[in-house]
Amino acid sequence: MDGKQTVISAKNLSKTFSNESVQQHVLKNLNLSIYKGDFTVIMGNSGSGKSTLLYALSGMDRPSIGTVSYYVNEGKKDTLSEIEISQYNNDRLAKFRRDHVGFVFQQNYLNDSMSALDNILVCGLLKSTDKRSLTKRAKELLEKVEITERDYKKFPTQLSGGQQQRIAVVRGVINAPEVLFADEPTGALNSQNTENVLDILSDLNATGQSIVMVTHTFKAAERGNRIIYLADGIISDEIYLGEYLGDYKDESNPNIEEARERHNRLKIFLQNMGW
Ligand SMILES: Nc1ncnc2c1ncn2[C@@H]1O[C@H](COP(=O)(O)OP(=O)(O)OP(=O)(O)O)[C@@H](O)[C@H]1O
Ligand SMILES: [Mg+2]
Repeated sequence: MDGKQTVISAKNLSKTFSNESVQQHVLKNLNLSIYKGDFTVIMGNSGSGKSTLLYALSGMDRPSIGTVSYYVNEGKKDTLSEIEISQYNNDRLAKFRRDHVGFVFQQNYLNDSMSALDNILVCGLLKSTDKRSLTKRAKELLEKVEITERDYKKFPTQLSGGQQQRIAVVRGVINAPEVLFADEPTGALNSQNTENVLDILSDLNATGQSIVMVTHTFKAAERGNRIIYLADGIISDEIYLGEYLGDYKDESNPNIEEARERHNRLKIFLQNMGW
């Protein structure tokens, strides 16, 4: 897209899993750039390779063939450095992830032996040693996601599923990641909690956070400004929808006409994809 800064450039990505005598080609020579500030959504049938792609892009795993490069500001320089992570070993990948990316999964993977706040701080302390400013940032983010002091002092199991997932989102962005990755972040939530978590992702994106999210649902996909459809390990097509314009059914939405039109464009796109 013109004028947009590339954050991730993936070239000729292939991923093959070998089990006993069978080889499965899950990603097939895929090329993809992710742009700064975008809320990129990846859709596709179950088994099409969405999670595999997300793991390759985020440095959770390595591709079998191909490269994944990040363009990031290292230090205080204005220039971008290219970091090619695809051949990093596990230690370097872990360090890279700590410094540059955040994650939210369907299951929140919070540690039940410590408070919700500590779950966030532990992650933050991997990168920063300044506990005071970290705690301040954590509390600001918690306020944004409407988790009160009473609740963030609790253990995760004492919180609702929606609250837990909001904590997981805060943990995902505590280190100000270049890109926040989310793999079906609302997959385990009821509809009210889904709406809350999606609102938080939309708000984060509105403040400039780049997001790459995998989802199965139309409601979640609608939050993205760019929707990519994956079929059998290749990108079938993609569509740019522009920014999210709110609920297309909400009569109090001042942008309801445009929101409806945007909703219909996505609907037609997905219909054409055979979704
Ligand atoms: N570690 C692995 N070892 C072997 N096969 C794997 C592994 N990870 C994924 N696969 C296979 O790769 C294919 C794609 O898996 P992937 O998890 O990327 O799909 P997905 O699009 O995320 O599906 P879903 O929507 O169900 O989450 C599947 O057939 C899966 O069985
Ligand atoms: Mg998946």
